[in-house]
Amino acid sequence: MADYLNFAIETAKQAGKILLDNYGKIKNLEYNTRQHFTTRVDQESDELIRKRIKENFPDHNIYSEEDADLNKGHEFSWVIDPLDGTIPYVYGITDHFGVCIALVKNKIPIVGVIYAPKRDELYYAEKGKGAFCNNKPIKTSLEKTISHAIMGLDPGKETSYFKRAVLGRYMEKVYSPKGISCAVCSGCASVPLCLVASGKLHAYMALSLEPWDMAAAVVINMEAGAKVTNIHGKEWNILDKSILVSNSILHEKLIDILNK
Ligand code: IPD
Ligand code: CA
Ligand code: CA
Repeated sequence: MADYLNFAIETAKQAGKILLDNYGKIKNLEYNTRQHFTTRVDQESDELIRKRIKENFPDHNIYSEEDADLNKGHEFSWVIDPLDGTIPYVYGITDHFGVCIALVKNKIPIVGVIYAPKRDELYYAEKGKGAFCNNKPIKTSLEKTISHAIMGLDPGKETSYFKRAVLGRYMEKVYSPKGISCAVCSGCASVPLCLVASGKLHAYMALSLEPWDMAAAVVINMEAGAKVTNIHGKEWNILDKSILVSNSILHEKLIDILNK
């Protein structure tokens, strides 16, 4: 079998260098909708990743946030976000941004790499082989007490009134008297998801993500011992918009709180 993991690691490192070399230098934002923008760095990183995939695995499909789907009908798909966390990246709010590369076999993520270059953290996992950060094994936390739990909360870039109202209702539940201690939000999905895998955060939830925001982090979390479902507690599927990831000990309690 080809060494997909090392290919994804090397590709993420090269793309991450583009992010770092341009950090703090972005002047022009291209708004593709009224509120959402992309930058030349999203494009440059995307071009590099695509080029490498096409050179090395010309028969594979590619699904990326930044370009049209390339569907070749193969069982292997590369699902990529060349820059996740564009807002923190452009505005320098946090170091939560990075490159996400997943290899998905028949809708199941089997390889995941997330490189957060400003944090100098390279997370990776291959199905059945454990999860790692900078070559050291990582595990989810042992927190048992829901009122002590710190959760990454991703409100998403929702513009519809209806979806914002739904988010508000979930927030009330999260902060109900039986809820968690604190929810933190960083404008990036992949890095907080990796922080659950490495035991720093105890859980993470989002209502409206895309496959490239989640696929790599899902393998990394599953290999680190996390429980990964959608917000209703059903096993996570690549077409789900919502995701709930926890250290597994807290999962049932979180599902109860969120769905009562
Ligand atoms: C965004 C981030 C963010 C999430 C948004 C995504 P981008 O990705 O993952 O956390 O809330 O919905 O679009 O645009 O920075 O790649
Ligand atoms: Ca993203
Ligand atoms: Ca992106």
